[in-house]
Amino acid sequence: MRIDIISAVPELLDGPVNQSILKRAADKGLAEIIVHNLRDYGQGPYRQIDDKIYGGSAGMVLMVEPVSNCINDLKKERNYDDIVYMTPDGETFNQSVANQMSLQQNLVLLCGHYKGIDQRIRDHIITKEISIGDFVLTGGELAAAMIADAVVRLLPGVISDETSALTDSFQDGLLAPPIYTRPAEINGWKVPDVLLSGHFAEIEKWNDEMALKRTEERRPDLLSD
Ligand code: ADE
Repeated sequence: MRIDIISAVPELLDGPVNQSILKRAADKGLAEIIVHNLRDYGQGPYRQIDDKIYGGSAGMVLMVEPVSNCINDLKKERNYDDIVYMTPDGETFNQSVANQMSLQQNLVLLCGHYKGIDQRIRDHIITKEISIGDFVLTGGELAAAMIADAVVRLLPGVISDETSALTDSFQDGLLAPPIYTRPAEINGWKVPDVLLSGHFAEIEKWNDEMALKRTEERRPDLLSD
């Protein structure tokens, strides 16, 4: 899978792309995450990428040309399944959207900055708009990093324990059950007996029950959908 991230502040993506699971996936040849500096497509001697809003509102807007030139260059090299714009008024990202995106080959993630981007980019170039929640970030970079992480960790082979992505919270519509490690008792705090029993069927039943209980307590909305 290849993810091209377009940003006016590419430095914000240095950590996630060069340190995290994304780097591990890249090292294994399972994902390629390329960050593009929108400023490279800026206009004039100052490499302008933004301008004032028509109609007098305060703030700056990313202009059509730098964004479309950058995306056109990318499209010359390969076909993209989606050109995604990070925006608080997009479709809310969740595990099901992550699963769908992980099945795609090539994605562009466009990070907004300032007040946002010229609506014509959204109307004519963007194919999908994603929000990571009902709050406003300063730019789309942290949202793009989060999405790339959630999607890339689902690719087969990226996480060393093959089954672990499948047992994540949300993957079966439920939160994950509680988990424990050694020692079996510390400060009088005990690991539930069933987990020490070695009885696989009982353990699985307990995990299922606890996942349901936790979901009922914390996220009953997940059960009513
Ligand atoms: N850019 C600014 N806020 C955002 C959000 N909540 N989700 C995605 N991109 C954003």
